[in-house]
Amino acid sequence: MGRLDGKVAVVTGAARGQGETEAALFAGEGAHVVLTDVLVEEGQQAADRICAAGGEALFVKLDVSSPDEWNEVVRHTVQTYERLDILVNNAGIAVRGGVESTPVEEWDRCLDINAKGVFLGMKYAIPAMLQNGSGSVINISSTSGIVGYPGGTAYHASKGAVRIMTKAAAAEYAKRGVRVNSLHPGIIRTPMTDNMAEERTAGIIDRTPMGRKGTPMEIAYGALFLASDESSFVTGAELVIDGGMTAV
Ligand SMILES: NC(=O)c1ccc[n+]([C@@H]2O[C@H](COP(=O)([O-])OP(=O)(O)OC[C@H]3O[C@@H](n4cnc5c(N)ncnc54)[C@H](O)[C@@H]3O)[C@@H](O)[C@H]2O)c1
Repeated sequence: MGRLDGKVAVVTGAARGQGETEAALFAGEGAHVVLTDVLVEEGQQAADRICAAGGEALFVKLDVSSPDEWNEVVRHTVQTYERLDILVNNAGIAVRGGVESTPVEEWDRCLDINAKGVFLGMKYAIPAMLQNGSGSVINISSTSGIVGYPGGTAYHASKGAVRIMTKAAAAEYAKRGVRVNSLHPGIIRTPMTDNMAEERTAGIIDRTPMGRKGTPMEIAYGALFLASDESSFVTGAELVIDGGMTAV
């Protein structure tokens, strides 16, 4: 018995990093998983690996900032698997820069992907969930959606938007069976942080009581709980998985 038997999940940004790990874990727990990403080759390979391991998965190209592509992903998912139960709005980009140094174009790009992308995911996926009268949306925010540090104005703004948009959507759909929660990773070992400057990484680890990066699987287990019926009374919540970073 898998913890997600019979459920159909869409995961964004699933070609690598946390999204890929979530997709693989969900498939291992019995879900049919639609992996989506702008990285077509890597995304297809991630889906192939899940299938090779005995899971059920397919890949569909999706730029989360495109309403048309969202429409197509949801249509294709429901046509293939006849339902949609779980959405992980995981795709995101890291944009560095403070108030004065962030170009307006970078602000727009960051908010388009990290915040509008999450809004569009809910806008297109929730109607399909309402068809079954149930669903679970997991919006990947960050500790950067809870606390602010210098040098990441647009990123903090986008992740703060995800956090509070989640609570508003949770309240909106609570009586109709769709739960909406946010997940807030601290620093996690993925391609996103592998590309970060050494001293910046060291500074974040220094602020993390556990003194290390988390792993994508440590995030995926949190997403699995929120995706499964084990969290049936949990909505509008923020699950922080950060090695204690926001506790101090
Ligand atoms: N790694 C961390 O330390 C950390 C900490 C807190 C929050 N997060 C958040 O976790 C999520 C996953 O990040 P990750 O660490 O796995 O990073 P990652 O860079 O390894 O993966 C992000 C994925 O999103 C995809 N993506 C980027 N723009 C996209 C778009 N427009 N449409 C669709 N897909 C797009 C990328 O191609 C990539 O596959 C992000 O939302 C990130 O902001 C990461």
